[in-house]
Amino acid sequence: MNAPELAAFHLSRRRAAALALLLPCALARAQEATQGQQPAKPLDVPYVPTPMAVVNKMLDMARVRRGDVLYDLGCGDGRIVVTAAKERGARGVGIDIDPRRIAEARRRAQEAGVEDRVRFIEGNLFDADFAEADVVALYLLPRINLELRPQLWRQLKLGSRVVSHAFDMGEDWPPEQMQNLRGSTIYAWTIRKAQKDAVRT
Ligand SMILES: C[S@@+](CC[C@H](N)C(=O)[O-])C[C@H]1O[C@@H](n2cnc3c(N)ncnc32)[C@H](O)[C@@H]1O
Repeated sequence: MNAPELAAFHLSRRRAAALALLLPCALARAQEATQGQQPAKPLDVPYVPTPMAVVNKMLDMARVRRGDVLYDLGCGDGRIVVTAAKERGARGVGIDIDPRRIAEARRRAQEAGVEDRVRFIEGNLFDADFAEADVVALYLLPRINLELRPQLWRQLKLGSRVVSHAFDMGEDWPPEQMQNLRGSTIYAWTIRKAQKDAVRT
């Protein structure tokens, strides 16, 4: 080995020794970071974002306008809440159990310049208080919609609107509107006296 090769060899041995010291710390930090990003419980619904054209149709069908408060239960990357705030002048709250989605939603709100009109909460939609909502947006699953239905009827005020991408609310709460867009079906309901009476005990 000539002198320059020897110097390079010693340098790479020092680098390897430094790496051996640093690597376990870096791995532990990476592990901590991903652990902190896991949902607190298994998802009830996998993450699939609503296409933007469908988001706009949902907001149309729910007649979202300036001053409305819109909740998205299982908000994913926040696209429905952020679009309602940016394009319709609404205020919005998104709830999702997955911290990675909440981080994405907050970034989206910041990029759209609507952070002052939206909030994103990491939590279980079944524990949520959404009584202030004028509009609730959903993209869940048939079983989860049915499970959530009494909570919607109990919490929401008369005249509030519910809009759901892809799934209805069962035969005994037929939608007032149903529209198809590029292979997606969207359903909309209004909370009426019959729903409030059904959960009054
Ligand atoms: C099909 S995605 C819909 C995302 C968004 N609403 C949209 O339309 O683009 C369903 C979302 O529900 C969230 N989710 C699943 N179970 C949940 C629960 N128990 N509480 C809150 N969010 C939940 C998932 O993390 C996922 O982001």
